[in-house]
Amino acid sequence: MNHDFTFGGHKSSAHIEAKTPRLGRIFSDMEAERAVIVCDRNTAPLAGEIAGGGAEIFALPDGEAAKNWQSVETVLRAVAGAGLGKDGLFVAVGGGVVSDICGFAASVYKRGAALAIVSTTLLGMADAALGGKTGFDLFDIKNFAGTFYPARHIYMPLDALRTLPPREWRSGLAEIIKTTVLDGSLYENETRKRLLALSPALSVAPDDACIDGAAALVGMAVRVKGDIVQKDPLETGDERALLNLGHTFGHALESAAGLGSLSHGEAVAWGMARAAELGVKLGITPQARAETIHDVLTELGYETRAPHPALADQEAFMWALADAKKKKAAGLRFVGPCGNGARVITPGLDGLKLAGEIAGLS
Ligand SMILES: NC(=O)c1ccc[n+]([C@@H]2O[C@H](COP(=O)([O-])OP(=O)(O)OC[C@H]3O[C@@H](n4cnc5c(N)ncnc54)[C@H](O)[C@@H]3O)[C@@H](O)[C@H]2O)c1
Repeated sequence: MNHDFTFGGHKSSAHIEAKTPRLGRIFSDMEAERAVIVCDRNTAPLAGEIAGGGAEIFALPDGEAAKNWQSVETVLRAVAGAGLGKDGLFVAVGGGVVSDICGFAASVYKRGAALAIVSTTLLGMADAALGGKTGFDLFDIKNFAGTFYPARHIYMPLDALRTLPPREWRSGLAEIIKTTVLDGSLYENETRKRLLALSPALSVAPDDACIDGAAALVGMAVRVKGDIVQKDPLETGDERALLNLGHTFGHALESAAGLGSLSHGEAVAWGMARAAELGVKLGITPQARAETIHDVLTELGYETRAPHPALADQEAFMWALADAKKKKAAGLRFVGPCGNGARVITPGLDGLKLAGEIAGLS
């Protein structure tokens, strides 16, 4: 199924399909004749199948630890070495780490080269590959540097999900749950059933029903995210910030636990539970909504307790929150679930203290 969007004047099409595309198809969609493929060591075999010998492939180490300046430099050096011209194409084959790094490299290569993404994780399909945010971690802070640079075509091949480990399914599902809070569908029985039907993929391996279920949920997430980003492509208003539900707490947790030790989705799930609690405290989130969010997350096996067991370094957590606060003139911002959606909350002067309490810090 195709979903077409325009982000700040740039067309971006997401293709949710059964099979992984081959390079010829990507060339035809992108109107390109030369490409380099950027992948990580786990997606390198898939990148080889896609390329079929028709493009140079550069494999990065895998995981969040590789989302750094060094990887950007490696990619830029390799692509320059391969002699890719301004009309050349960058193809990212991987999850959010590869698409964020490759997207950033494409955005600065000769002041902007064409970009396509073959997204191979549930998190990438449901969130990271769409919407144009690129970037990398710097100074131990998540996504410290980055650009807005939407890929023209984003392929979401469901067959790639068959090899995805349970922990990565869990990570991606957290972002899908976030989307269901944003469009209010989490509060419908049918949606909760669909989410719970993915349980086998979270513990053993995905069966055909999980792949079919994922297709429907990815479609929903792409529609919700795409519509939001179309309204606020550069996050200048509050609209796009809604996608950060669970991320203020989640990013601080990821930084404090040591980047890469928790998956992005695990941290976001914990952050959503905290955001719901904060919302209740500030009178924005109805108690029953917070309970539903908490129950679904717990039922699917996410850590929702405060403090998080991985939160050994309380100072680092507060430092990361303080850094988030510095980025906005209005101070620390959270996204709180409300009746049937979510809204941005700025708790004011006491925001940091309150967030520390909600995170269970002494
Ligand atoms: N740009 C955005 O808008 C946006 C949004 C959300 C998240 N993100 C970023 O995305 C990153 C997380 O993405 P992710 O969860 O995809 O992580 P990831 O890219 O690190 O992939 C997770 C792991 O799965 C492996 N993998 C990938 N595809 C596979 C497959 N088909 N089969 C088996 N293994 C496979 C990878 O090698 C890696 O080890 C974070 O850095 C986060 O900040 C970006």
